[in-house]
Amino acid sequence: MNERHLEGRVALVTGGAGGIGTAICMHLADLGCRVATTYRNPEKTQTWQRQMRDNGYDFAIFACDVAKYEDCERAAKEIEQHCGPIDILVNNAGITRDATLKKMAREQWHEVIAANLDSVFNMTRQVVDGMTERGWGRIINISSINGQKGQFGQCNYASAKAGMHGFTMALALETARKGVTVNTISPGYIATDMVMAVPEPVRAKILEQIPVGRFGETDEIAHVVTFLVSPHSGFITGANIPINGGQHMM
Ligand code: CAA
Repeated sequence: MNERHLEGRVALVTGGAGGIGTAICMHLADLGCRVATTYRNPEKTQTWQRQMRDNGYDFAIFACDVAKYEDCERAAKEIEQHCGPIDILVNNAGITRDATLKKMAREQWHEVIAANLDSVFNMTRQVVDGMTERGWGRIINISSINGQKGQFGQCNYASAKAGMHGFTMALALETARKGVTVNTISPGYIATDMVMAVPEPVRAKILEQIPVGRFGETDEIAHVVTFLVSPHSGFITGANIPINGGQHMM
C-alpha cells in the first residue's frame, strides 16, 4: 500500500496539542491527511503549531471547547470551509479531575463528563451525516483502561470513558452499512503530562502493575489509529482495542 494512502483525506483530532494527540496528528499527516485540531488554550496551541511547523507539519487549529455543542457546530463548519469535508474524526480531547467520591464536588463530576463524554456526542454529531452520505468515514474514540477496569479516585473519569465505548458500539451499528467504522482505543498509562501529574508514590504503584514494566509511548497509540483508518480495516467496527502493557486483560 502507498505510504501516503490517505492523501486528500481530512482528519480532525480534538485536543491535538496534547501528548497522545500530537502523536496522532503527526502519524495521520505522515499518511497524507490534512490534519485539523481544536483547542481551548490559544497561547499553548499557537506555540505548538509553530513548533510543529518547524518540524515540517502544517496543522490547522480551531478554537473550540468540545464540552459545548455550539462550539463544535461552529468549529466543524470552519474546518470544512478551510480544509474540506471531515473524513476521519479522532475524539481525543479529555481531562481528569481525580478525587475519591466522598471528596468529589459536583463541578468535578460535570466537568469530566462534559469534556470527555458530551464532547463525543457534540463533535461526532457534526460529522457523521457527511461521512455516511459520502460512503466513507473513520471515527475513533480515545477512551482509557480506567473505563474498562475502574480506578480509585476516578468515578467521574471511569464513567465517562466507559460511556465512550457504549457510544462507539451503538453508532457502529447505525453506520455499519454506510462505509463508516466506529472504534474505541483504550490506552493504559502512557508517558504524558496527564499521567505524570499523578502523585509520584501513586504512579510508582501503578508502574508496578504493568507487566511490560514501563509506561506506554504516545506513538504506540498513534500506530493503532493509523491501523484503524487504513482502507483494509473496514471490517473492524464497534471494537475496543486495549493498549496497556498487559495491565488489564479481557
Ligand atoms: N486502593 C485502595 N485504597 C487506596 C488507594 C487504592 N488505590 N489509594 C489510596 N487509598 C486509601 C489510602 O490508603 C487512604 O486510606 P486511609 O484513609 O484509610 O488512610 C485513603 O484511600 C485516601 O483517601 P483520600 O480520599 O483521602 O485520597 P486522597 O485525597 O489522598 O487521594 C486521589 C485520592 C487524588 C484520587 C489519589 O489517590 C490519586 O491521585 N490517585 C491516582 C488516580 C489515577 O490513577 N489517575 C489516573 C490519572 S491519568 C489517566 O487517567 C490517564 C488514563 O486514562 C490512564
